[in-house]
Amino acid sequence: MRLSYVSVLTLALCVLSFASPSTAGERSGLKGSEKFIDSLVAVMTVEEKAGQLTQYSAQWQGLGSGGRLSPEQAEQIRQGKIGSLLNLLGAEQTRSVQRMAVEESRLKIPLMFGYDVVHGYRTVFPIPLAEASTWDPAAVELSTRVAATEAAASGIHWTFAPMVDIARDPRWGRIAEGSGEDPYLGSVMAAARVRGFQGDGPGTPTSIIACAKHFAAYGGAEGGRDYNTVDISERTLRETYLPPFEAAARAGAWTFMASFNEIGGVPSTANRFLLTEILRGEWKFEGFVVSDWGSVTELRQHGIAGTQAEAALAGILAGTDMDMEGSCYRDGIPQLVKEGKLPMSVVDEAVRRVLKIKARAGLFEDPYRYCDTAREKAAILAPAHRASAREVARKSIVLLKNDRSILPLLKNLGCIAVIGALADSGNDCLGPWAGAGRGEDAVTLLAGIKAAVSPETHLVYEQGCDVTGISTAGFSAAVNAARGADAVILVLGESASMSGEAKSRSSIELPGVQQQLLEAVHAVGKPTVLVLMNGRPLAIPWAAEHVGAILETWFLGVETGHALGDVLFGDVSPGGKLPVSFPRATGQIPIHYNHKQTGRPSQDTVLWTSKYLDLPTTPLYSFGYGLSYTTFAYSNLTLSSSTFPASDTMVVTVTVRNTGSHRGDEIAQLYIQDPVASITRPVRELRGFKRVTLAAGEAQTVTFPLTRGALAFYGLDMKKIVEPGLFRVYVGGNPVQTLTADFTLQH
Ligand code: GLC
Repeated sequence: MRLSYVSVLTLALCVLSFASPSTAGERSGLKGSEKFIDSLVAVMTVEEKAGQLTQYSAQWQGLGSGGRLSPEQAEQIRQGKIGSLLNLLGAEQTRSVQRMAVEESRLKIPLMFGYDVVHGYRTVFPIPLAEASTWDPAAVELSTRVAATEAAASGIHWTFAPMVDIARDPRWGRIAEGSGEDPYLGSVMAAARVRGFQGDGPGTPTSIIACAKHFAAYGGAEGGRDYNTVDISERTLRETYLPPFEAAARAGAWTFMASFNEIGGVPSTANRFLLTEILRGEWKFEGFVVSDWGSVTELRQHGIAGTQAEAALAGILAGTDMDMEGSCYRDGIPQLVKEGKLPMSVVDEAVRRVLKIKARAGLFEDPYRYCDTAREKAAILAPAHRASAREVARKSIVLLKNDRSILPLLKNLGCIAVIGALADSGNDCLGPWAGAGRGEDAVTLLAGIKAAVSPETHLVYEQGCDVTGISTAGFSAAVNAARGADAVILVLGESASMSGEAKSRSSIELPGVQQQLLEAVHAVGKPTVLVLMNGRPLAIPWAAEHVGAILETWFLGVETGHALGDVLFGDVSPGGKLPVSFPRATGQIPIHYNHKQTGRPSQDTVLWTSKYLDLPTTPLYSFGYGLSYTTFAYSNLTLSSSTFPASDTMVVTVTVRNTGSHRGDEIAQLYIQDPVASITRPVRELRGFKRVTLAAGEAQTVTFPLTRGALAFYGLDMKKIVEPGLFRVYVGGNPVQTLTADFTLQH
């Protein structure tokens, strides 16, 4: 029986008016109101309910081009058996598919279109790990605001982002998609991304629904191997992996995505403790949870479900509301309800959650709100968007080394040799999860250098070798290019396809024969700048010892070349800091700054302490580390009191001075340590940071509020507590070179 849209609404109104006289306010906000949704649920069949809990992907056509709907999918939409699609792009295409749901199905319930808008839609920004290197939440919010503006103009209602997984193992390829190893920095970035994506809130023209993923502890995979088992204590779960998710929930994220992995024997997709007790019970989350791609079906591979129906039951009872790219819910739910194994009330609750979000996104009011081709044309790759991408890219660059101030280079050098396959690859500039980005949109490093130097400067480009190949045939041309140059810019690292999903590496050294190329070019003896393009920390001890200047640039997006040109030739001083530690070797993993003291703290020269025989125990480069073209000095560290005030907030102040000759950014960082507590505490915990811009010679007083909550940890009973005693404060430009001060918490 087909009902017109008006007749469905009339039917709903009849049910509503029968149920209770609705006020003008409710009637005007009818489509978003609980009553409207309840009235809609009341007339839905169990098949239609299961359909609202089912999401399918359009058939993928390759990077940046989105997918196509199959005839079967079109028919299922008309039958109300699909509630959401992913990977369908474009104002025109989403309009035509939306019409199938809104005009050709029985209940006319609009579809929700989702897509992985992770670090840009078509104007691709730096990868999230690079954006975390800015330590600038405003920059990250700008990036996600631009992404949302372009995605919403292209028919996208919902992004599967921010990815907020903490990662301490760079073998894991998805470290590229998050904000690194620290829960505090990760939480600040998670909230900034949710704000940026959701913008002015429900139903406004450029707001897209955020989705905090992958819930939870996905980055804790054993061996850094994607999808692998996670076995951690509840304390580690709560203190390391959950904070960014809680921050995303408190920032108002409307959806969460369950992760592929298990935690201690229970897959997240069927983990009631995670999805209901913590997410909804403790955090009062009111949105809905989508599975990851096929992760409901995969409960069978995990071995906790024997059939599709059992997988559906386990997922929906735990709190996974929508089945992404799976038919477990579509086929299993009607069967389970008929067999009396699944109460209809549970199904209705999940359906209400989904319909509420569709209503809040304004889809009932105007299902075609995001299908405006004119708006799409104006938004995509707008000059202002590219300018924002360049600004965020510049801030993402981390200077790891700059001996004898090789950098910045002069713009009028006679000859510069640019060497490395990555220097001339648009696709690789975009990094993994590049949304609808296209390689041809990107300004490569080579193009950016050409644009930055004077017309008299002669540029010579040689590939040298492939990123992963074993051929050294290109070495001699590269070495000859270096011989004839005044300076060498050597671009090494990983291709964009070597990080992201299912891209774990068993070793984090430079791939292929790049190390050999590095040594051959370095032997020529010219001033050499190593530019790293990579999606994870790399073990580069030889480069760290021998190469004069090293820039960590990650993957910087469409404005890679211009941003790097700005930094290489001194228009801008690099000011980024590492959001993740760089191990000296793969064997040092996991290594992170906020480690425990142990009973035998590491001392490389003392035998009976926690260390290696063949490596120092410190990382090659620490979390929070990064240099500048200028230098900074910290002084006057003061606490508002030597005992923590009853007012619950201590104010920490410090003076930061630019003691060099270049204008530059410094990221002042505040760490605490609780040396004696009922539970062992990390040697440092980041509890505040601020990126400041200082002219040469300029000084600024930076203040950090330190709340009592910042001192809390999970006690023996797994309840958050604050214990009296001595606390230590560290403030500086990284966690190691700091000023310190102590205070006492008395009760
Ligand atoms: C993938 C990823 C997830 C992504 C989803 C949709 O498998 O794990 O991050 O959002 O599927 O593409």
